[in-house]
Amino acid sequence: MTNELESLRSEVMDAAAAAADLGALESVRVGALGKKGSITALFKGLGGLEPEQRKLQGEALNRVKDEVAAAIEARQSELADAELEARLARERVDVSLPPRPTRLGRLHPISRTVEEMIAIFGEMGFSVATGPHIEDDFHNFTALNIHEEHPARQEMDTFYLPENAEGQRMVLRTHTSPVQIRTMQAVEPPIRIIVPGRTFRADYDATHTPMFHQLEGLVVDETTHMGHLKGTLVEFCRAIFGVEDLPVRFRASYFPFTEPSAEVDIGCSRAGGELKIGAGDDWLEILGSGMVHPKVLENCGIDSSRYQGYAFGMGIERIAMLKYGIPDLRTFYEADIRWLRHYGFVPLAEPSMVRGL
Ligand code: PHE
Repeated sequence: MTNELESLRSEVMDAAAAAADLGALESVRVGALGKKGSITALFKGLGGLEPEQRKLQGEALNRVKDEVAAAIEARQSELADAELEARLARERVDVSLPPRPTRLGRLHPISRTVEEMIAIFGEMGFSVATGPHIEDDFHNFTALNIHEEHPARQEMDTFYLPENAEGQRMVLRTHTSPVQIRTMQAVEPPIRIIVPGRTFRADYDATHTPMFHQLEGLVVDETTHMGHLKGTLVEFCRAIFGVEDLPVRFRASYFPFTEPSAEVDIGCSRAGGELKIGAGDDWLEILGSGMVHPKVLENCGIDSSRYQGYAFGMGIERIAMLKYGIPDLRTFYEADIRWLRHYGFVPLAEPSMVRGL
């Protein structure tokens, strides 16, 4: 073997042994055995030698080539092993560590209150009905005995949509009462429904937001009277607030669609910006109610000489405010995550009574 070949051999062997990673080793391999590699180049020189010389030199070259290739291969698996070891050490999972805390979302107090209300009325035999947010004049007003000139139309601060192709101005429903009409038009009595849902009025202060929620109730049959209305609502108030001797006040009132009508207030105190139920000498109105007006029954094609019943509409925010001591209604819809963390509910902390609303 020539000195030249010998020194090339040891040079490549040293470089392979010194390669710190697979990338560096690959450069060594290409530099020696690749198309333009230093050992490959020597093969090209064989052609110019005498046959005897060529044979000797060829054998020596092949031997060196094989040795170098074997050394590179050995180093390759050594480096691959080392890299795997390092990776295993780096990525080791400590299964004894406690899990990272995950931030669960919270149920908004309105969602939670609606769930509870449905559960309570569900036990009293009511089922849930729904209707559209965008209503026509007939269902929102006229069928409910609220005529064109009736002051209730103005009092309700209605949001009107632009005139449609039929020259009609639809409204964002100002209450859930239009679903009374839709239900009475669609089914025969006996009727026993509640309607939780969104309602809209142009109003904004500590107890009003332009979008809010109501829960409507409607019972129509041949025997239901005002005593049933009172009993149901008192029972409901005690159940939702969980207070046996809750101060509940029925106050005579007026609605075009009920006769007689009453509003219900809950005794509370608002001293020092804190809202507390069952204490103090203040009252918070939570609902309107009454016996369904015979004209309303007739407007829906129900015989008012045979059928009668009661209706009520309660403010869900009002109830949530009282229940959870939240003094300002506007905060419900400011979407402040700190507020929600404080007043919201962990969804899985206790079995929810009703699902899917
Ligand atoms: N719709 C009335 C309101 O929004 C409430 C109500 C409902 C009153 C049903 C009587 C009967 O104020």
